[in-house]
Amino acid sequence: MLRSNNCGELRLNDLDRQVSLCGWVHHIRDLGKLLFIDLRDRYGTTQIYFDANNKPELYQRAKQLGREYVIQVIGTVRERSNKNPKMPTGDIEIDVEELTVLNSSQIPPFTIEDDTDGSEEMRLQYRYLDLRRNAMKDTLIFRHKLNLSIRNFLSEQDFLEIETPFLIKSTPEGARDFIVPSRLNPGNFYALPQSPQLLKQLLMFAGMDRYFQIVRCFRDEDFRADRQPEFTQLDCEMSFVKQEDILNLFENMMKNLFKKLLDIDLPTFPRLTYKEAMETYGSDKPDLRFDMPIINLSDKLKGNGFKIFDESEYVGGLLLANQPSVSRKHIDKFTEWVKNPQVGGSGLAYIRYVDGQIKSSISQFFTNEFLQNVMISLNASTNDILFIISGNKDKSLKILGDFRLYLAKEYNLIQKNIFKPLWVIDFPMFEWDEENKRFTSSHHPFTSPLEEDIDLLDTNPSIARSNAYDMVMNGAELGGGSIRIHDKNLQKKIFKLLNLTDQEAEDKFGFFLKALDYGAPPHGGIAFGIDRIVAVMLGLNSIRDVIAFPKNNMGRDLMMQAPAPVSEEQLKELHIKVQ
Ligand code: AMO
Repeated sequence: MLRSNNCGELRLNDLDRQVSLCGWVHHIRDLGKLLFIDLRDRYGTTQIYFDANNKPELYQRAKQLGREYVIQVIGTVRERSNKNPKMPTGDIEIDVEELTVLNSSQIPPFTIEDDTDGSEEMRLQYRYLDLRRNAMKDTLIFRHKLNLSIRNFLSEQDFLEIETPFLIKSTPEGARDFIVPSRLNPGNFYALPQSPQLLKQLLMFAGMDRYFQIVRCFRDEDFRADRQPEFTQLDCEMSFVKQEDILNLFENMMKNLFKKLLDIDLPTFPRLTYKEAMETYGSDKPDLRFDMPIINLSDKLKGNGFKIFDESEYVGGLLLANQPSVSRKHIDKFTEWVKNPQVGGSGLAYIRYVDGQIKSSISQFFTNEFLQNVMISLNASTNDILFIISGNKDKSLKILGDFRLYLAKEYNLIQKNIFKPLWVIDFPMFEWDEENKRFTSSHHPFTSPLEEDIDLLDTNPSIARSNAYDMVMNGAELGGGSIRIHDKNLQKKIFKLLNLTDQEAEDKFGFFLKALDYGAPPHGGIAFGIDRIVAVMLGLNSIRDVIAFPKNNMGRDLMMQAPAPVSEEQLKELHIKVQ
């Protein structure tokens, strides 16, 4: 070993020991006759010093060192005269006797500090330098501990970790596939798994009973802060279970992880149906860190002679409590936000209580008394403001949901360092794709309908509910799953409703339909986004910050410069022409 100790472990009880340390030159302070260096490795930082009076030649050599040089030093542990209580090793320092430069370094393009001056682009380009920063390093250590705790927890519950292949046939999860050409089979392509969905179901058919895998998934979809083209799932499947069993087991797992890793006791997860979530929060992944539910105002405001409300399918509102500083200008800004084409609202009305007086954008259409009664019925008090949106119900709820989050940011309503988990259950089976005039699966085609809604598949599939559930925390979808179909006829029926002909179903999923003929047990499962769990647990906004080598928002690896062209020869071997 080049070292006797790491840079994070020496203490006062090591005084006078001769030690050797290796690490990176983090800070250099030259006081003329004394040169101090903070030597850094994964475990911490230790102060080392070179004394010009005692060892002038060594001091001269130390003066040549630069930031991020890799060095080995041999020296004696001494007590520091000015101790640094902020550093775990802050009581001691090393009086260096021997110095070996293991490697030099260019001056790094940004500072290796928690609050680095590096732009995101630079940090991605020089990711190996970025990962030297404590913040990044600690995140990766946390992620390792999370994975380990998950493996331990699930192993104790009889789950087997089983690997599934990456070169497979397409598994639909609603995104585009990344495809891989086959050299040996001209014109044929593998797809990288969007998830191991069918494979884990086949493992249940194979009698494995309880499976999990911490596995990379690949989806060619548009980018957002909480999405990457390759990301990691904790993928799980169980046989002979009902929804309740799965929700209980994985709620326990999450509580266990929070206790173990953050020493936080999560409460029992509330459960909301998809319908309740949409009607109360305008979102299927509601952020419960703040209140402000959507209020259905249809009964109160429709039918009173104001045409816009009367002709709307739905009128709903948000009561923003106790905000004396909201000005006309703010309200204009909010109205503009609501009307921006990306949000898609047609307008924003408000009723407001200031000094016992009603102020409202709709005061010419309603009497003062009427508006006052509306506010009283909502228990509104002075400085409360009711924002109102009307129109098509689903669209208005969605806008109110987005506006709820917008207001929360604007008025700092979201408490820091709290965790608000919940389950959203009873998702619809299908979504209507207006562009292609057909149903798509809300979850995926292997999700079973609720037993009481099976008949609706024949009569009114658009309102049929499924046995699908999501785990949501702080407004992020951490995981989703369902009880699966294990009956071949039902599976074929769902394919039909999704507009797949028998032939198409056979071509795409023939192997799976055949397997359903050989004793498929009732089964269900769930998959979590590991990246999202880490980001939520650590309070980080982007999953890029929890992945060692992520892609940027154009799907590029800025360090490797991938994707990149390949040689003519490679293309030829793969029987591919680039147009
Ligand atoms: P689903 O598509 O909901 O379900 O994915 C499960 C979880 O994976 C995470 N996730 C992502 N994380 C980062 N980047 C992405 N592009 C991305 N896409 C999804 C989310 C999500 O909740 N096979 C089913 C699971 C099942 O039914 O068991 C599936 O993949 O946290």
